[in-house]
Amino acid sequence: MEASDSYGPATYRRATLADADRLADVHIRVLMVAYRGIDPQDWLDSLPRQLEERRTRWRERLTTQPDDPVIVAEVAPAGLVGFAVGGRARGEPPLGYDGELISIYLLPEHQRKGIGRELVRRVARALLGAGYRGLIVRVLSANPARLFYERLGARSLGVDWVNIGGQDLEETVYGWANPDLYFPPEAPVEPALPEPST
Ligand SMILES: CC(C)(COP(=O)(O)OP(=O)(O)OC[C@H]1O[C@@H](n2cnc3c(N)ncnc32)[C@H](O)[C@@H]1OP(=O)(O)O)[C@@H](O)C(=O)NCCC(=O)NCCS
Repeated sequence: MEASDSYGPATYRRATLADADRLADVHIRVLMVAYRGIDPQDWLDSLPRQLEERRTRWRERLTTQPDDPVIVAEVAPAGLVGFAVGGRARGEPPLGYDGELISIYLLPEHQRKGIGRELVRRVARALLGAGYRGLIVRVLSANPARLFYERLGARSLGVDWVNIGGQDLEETVYGWANPDLYFPPEAPVEPALPEPST
């Protein structure tokens, strides 16, 4: 059995103010691994020094934007291992795309187990419930995570530019014109395993 198999199933809930420190910690840890070779290394190296400032920003976000969905995933015994954030689409989104999956980050040892898909589904359902219609997500074009969004049915809507650590990087804007089709109200039920025959 692999070490990762010793984790329990993931559970999901809305983030609370008490999660702010752990959210900043998980965010930085994932960024440093996932964006190596994509974002400027100087900027990645500076992330641990930004911990306190980022904890403060999480506290501010959770306090001042309580309606924006911040969903966390927890597994025993690790605790909070990932999160996803939604809200109003930033910048000048394409017509009809008024909501945005703003960020999603999972610790490496908890990736590729369906947790990301469920986090996106929950953020999408929360945004649909709040009256948003189409959803976008921005992903650096060099980030293989774009394949994750494609797998979830997102269509490429074009490219944009974002400045990270003083460098302009291309990002692809993906969208779901009708998220209701892709993110059902209830998570699909896993088929029950057959009872072992004795
Ligand atoms: C991107 C991320 C959120 C995906 O979450 P995840 O839990 O690993 O993905 P899931 O297990 O739910 O995968 C859902 C589907 O997408 C596919 N997928 C996920 N990541 C993929 C990748 N990098 N390349 C190709 N396919 C991928 C899975 O194979 C799965 O397909 P299936 O339905 O056929 O089985 C997670 O890997 C992550 O946090 N990455 C680092 C941070 C990051 O880049 N965030 C995005 C910033 S825009």
